Amino acid sequence: MTTAGRRIHPSGAMVLIVDDVPPLAEQYAYDIRRLGGFRTRIAHGGAEGLEILGREVVDCVILDLEMPGLDGFDVLRAMEHRSIDVPVIVYTGTGSFDRCVEAVRLGAFSFIDKAEPMERVVQEVRLALRQTDLRQRLGELERGAAESSPLIGESAAMIEVGAAIDRLADIPSPVLVLGESGTGKELVARELHRRSRRQSEAFVAVNCGGIAEGLVDSDLFGHDRGAFTGALKARRGAFERATSGTLFLDEIGELPGGVQARLLRVLEGGEIVRLGAEEPITVGARIVAATHRDLDAAAEAGDFRDDLLHRVNVHVIRVPPLRDRPRDIPLLAAHFASTLPARLGRSPRPVTEAALAELRARSWERNNVRELRNTIERMIIASDGPVLDLAHLPPDLARPRPRAAASFAPPPPRADAPAPSYQEQKRAAERAIIVAALQANEWVISRTARSLGLSDHSSLIKIMNRLGVRRPGK
Ligand SMILES: Nc1ncnc2c1ncn2[C@@H]1O[C@H](COP(=O)(O)OP(=O)(O)OP(=O)(O)O)[C@@H](O)[C@H]1O
Ligand SMILES: [Mg+2]
Repeated sequence: MTTAGRRIHPSGAMVLIVDDVPPLAEQYAYDIRRLGGFRTRIAHGGAEGLEILGREVVDCVILDLEMPGLDGFDVLRAMEHRSIDVPVIVYTGTGSFDRCVEAVRLGAFSFIDKAEPMERVVQEVRLALRQTDLRQRLGELERGAAESSPLIGESAAMIEVGAAIDRLADIPSPVLVLGESGTGKELVARELHRRSRRQSEAFVAVNCGGIAEGLVDSDLFGHDRGAFTGALKARRGAFERATSGTLFLDEIGELPGGVQARLLRVLEGGEIVRLGAEEPITVGARIVAATHRDLDAAAEAGDFRDDLLHRVNVHVIRVPPLRDRPRDIPLLAAHFASTLPARLGRSPRPVTEAALAELRARSWERNNVRELRNTIERMIIASDGPVLDLAHLPPDLARPRPRAAASFAPPPPRADAPAPSYQEQKRAAERAIIVAALQANEWVISRTARSLGLSDHSSLIKIMNRLGVRRPGK
């Protein structure tokens, strides 16, 4: 797919023209803006050019080879030395082919003759930008490939998640993905991107939690050199890196207060201003946010801005916890059993029915799908035989003890009391499953029945009556 050419930089890429003759530089800058829609910056010599390259974000350089002081060759060498990775197009008036070849050998992207029409120059800039873009995207794809697997699940709940992704993929408004830890929120965000028309654009993920406020800020919005102590190099923020792709704001519930305010302004205004810079840049990225927190409660408690919440929660996708869709467990287990071995240097082996039944019986409430994946990984390592079986289950998983059960099951028997019978244990476990499902569905009977795969709400009511389950306080 050759869609790279249609990738648009938010307000046009920044082209730096380095030329010691001001009228020439200005004419070039004018034509490049007019014909290419780019933004431009002029440096009147090699030293000034290098200074700008070290301080600001530049996407492409047009460099004169003949200049007093630092000439074009010196600039190329210095860029190489300082690892400034920006494509350079050199131009020369002498028509000396050898000099141009020498410049390319020093790292220039290409060369043009000053006599060539401006259209050719603009075309060359586009080529250079596209090449950088492709290289960046390749890096992103390589990084994302490890984590990007298809979204597995045939439970009603996951089919609904899939349908929501299809419905929302191509609209520009933000999407909020909610779900417990490890349920697959990031995978849903990646699917939203993959199924959208932006799929060939960048997918940029930012973790909004766990780092200092200032860092989140420059991670999102970028900064110019010297914007704050320690800002030795200009840095493009995530909004800029995502250009017109998808910006994934992971753990948005953890976003520090100050950054919440700034993010709100960006979402309202559709523009960002890099820290320490003045020129605003149009935001073209689609926002997908995720959190395991209850944002409504956080807003009510004053930890999350109400106005920001209303900006991001226009469309919500809820990824259900794994315990509410046990039907997906065998599928996911088979998926991990067939995909993980390659990475672990083992051969794929099937999971036995007995082991699957055990896996299905777990509540996975600590880390949901991630916990299941880790369990399969441990089973793969533990097994030398042709299958993954009961014996390979991690020991800490050997006895079912879902956390929800702990709060509802009868208190643990005293050491001298007789051990509970099989029937008693079964009843307690069943009760725990029903109560956990009801809690997860806010005690809405029909929804709970559906999540448990029961035929209708009256079957659930019968089970509740048999087990004596009643909503607390009722
Ligand atoms: N439906 C699914 N199909 C296949 N793999 C899945 C599915 N859901 C989750 N996974 C896998 O489980 C792991 C956890 O998923 P992911 O990182 O998307 O969860 P998360 O909700 O973002 O977790 P956290 O809250 O910890 O950030 C990943 O390896 C992911 O590929
Ligand atoms: Mg995540």
